Amino acid sequence: MMTACVILAAGLGKRMNSNLPKVLHKVCGIPMLQSVIETARKLKCRQIVVVTGEHDDLIKKALASPDISYALQKEPKGTGQALMCAKQDLKGFQGILIVLNGDTPLVRAETIKKFLKLHLKNKSAVSVLSFQAENPDDYGRVVRDASGQVLSIMEQKDADAMQKKIHEVNSGVYAINHDLLSLLDSIKINRKKGEYYLTDIVAAALKKGLKTSAYCIGAEDEFMGVNTREELYRASMFMKKKLIEKWAGKGVTFLDMDSVFIHAGVTIGKDTTVYPNVYLEGRTKIGRGTTIYPNVRILDSEIGNNVVIKDSTVIEGSTIKNRASVGPFARIRPGSEIGIEARIGNFVELKKAVIGKATKASHLSYLGDTRIGEGVNIGAGTITCNYDGEKKHRTIIEDGVFVGSDTQLVAPVKIGKGAYIGAGSTIIKNVPPWALALSRSKQTHSSEWAKKWQKKIKNRKSKVSK
Ligand code: UD1
Ligand code: CA
Repeated sequence: MMTACVILAAGLGKRMNSNLPKVLHKVCGIPMLQSVIETARKLKCRQIVVVTGEHDDLIKKALASPDISYALQKEPKGTGQALMCAKQDLKGFQGILIVLNGDTPLVRAETIKKFLKLHLKNKSAVSVLSFQAENPDDYGRVVRDASGQVLSIMEQKDADAMQKKIHEVNSGVYAINHDLLSLLDSIKINRKKGEYYLTDIVAAALKKGLKTSAYCIGAEDEFMGVNTREELYRASMFMKKKLIEKWAGKGVTFLDMDSVFIHAGVTIGKDTTVYPNVYLEGRTKIGRGTTIYPNVRILDSEIGNNVVIKDSTVIEGSTIKNRASVGPFARIRPGSEIGIEARIGNFVELKKAVIGKATKASHLSYLGDTRIGEGVNIGAGTITCNYDGEKKHRTIIEDGVFVGSDTQLVAPVKIGKGAYIGAGSTIIKNVPPWALALSRSKQTHSSEWAKKWQKKIKNRKSKVSK
């Protein structure tokens, strides 16, 4: 049977109180609408139509793809009207329309497939995927007669006292035979809300003597509709819990599952340990046997095997190779690469810095726009002076170099292989390989000076007190 999917995403989302369209708000790092689109893709439909409204430019910019067409609902006047807006895109389509809400990001493709099977088996004209809600407020109630036949979907605002007691509610997932689209024209505006309700298609179909059904399958969490920030939070917590359970199942140890946040695009290798308050975001990949200590945030980065990321470290857009160690209190900014067995210690900031194998920068440094070779020692307080107030310049440090503490490397500058730089130097010229570079003024001693000085102070004090 041919299927097409329509995703309703044109609502104003007023209850979010946001400048961002509701469906672009993220759950575990993924915009809600993107999650729904990904679910739709898994259904292998002939086409996917997304109905957008006022902010369609923002949505298209974020989620454009050749396998999706966008239909515009200029003024959102309800879910029924939204589906009508997709009619043009569905011209000539014959089969079953699967309708999804763009604000219901946790629905799984498997559940929809199960639902579709039931719809086909029972030869219904329109089916609603329903669920038992602990608190049914805000959802449309599934109204059935004594025999169980679905009569209508009744929104909270329109429900009478008896109907309000119903816990079986509409998830926003529908299967509708294409020829029922014409029924949408007969739906009347709901006076209380000034909207055309898609849910009214059930009663309209029944009136025509067509078969209507509702299938109560799946758990409530999966159908959570996000209308408020609080619901966004709840959906995020649910998805995050699922993700952590998934990685725990694959051999990751979490010392405190509640305080860790993981985005849906993150992967973590076996025997890695994650301490409390760790945030793994974007497309981060963590290898095997790695340890991530507390208060670490890693975004869009690749971390190798047996790496140690110590407490309170931030890593963004960077690569950290096997057996390296980073932190505590390190800041690794985008474009950095830390080599195998390298060590980046406390209060070290890297930016576009490539650090070679087994190189160490253990304390208090800024290393930016630099390439540092293998086996280099960067002393405490080393600074690459990469910015002249106008442009950025590069520092090259070749293999085996020893940079003494408190050195400033004024870029552009190159330190040749095996060279030594004496502590406290300001390096403004290239250093040849194997040379010793020193640039500090000569130390002098004035003998017994301190004693004379102290005597002088003592005399002065006694004069004052007299
Ligand atoms: C809707 C259902 C309700 C169901 C619930 C499930 C209706 C009338 N009610 O209620 O029965 O239990 O979802 O979560 O359908 N949208 C448009 N254009 C519009 C209005 C809405 O595209 O003019 C889109 C929204 O962007 C959203 C979806 O349709 O993705 C649902 O709209 P929303 O206003 O959130 O409906 P609910 O009140 O949650
Ligand atoms: Ca909703």
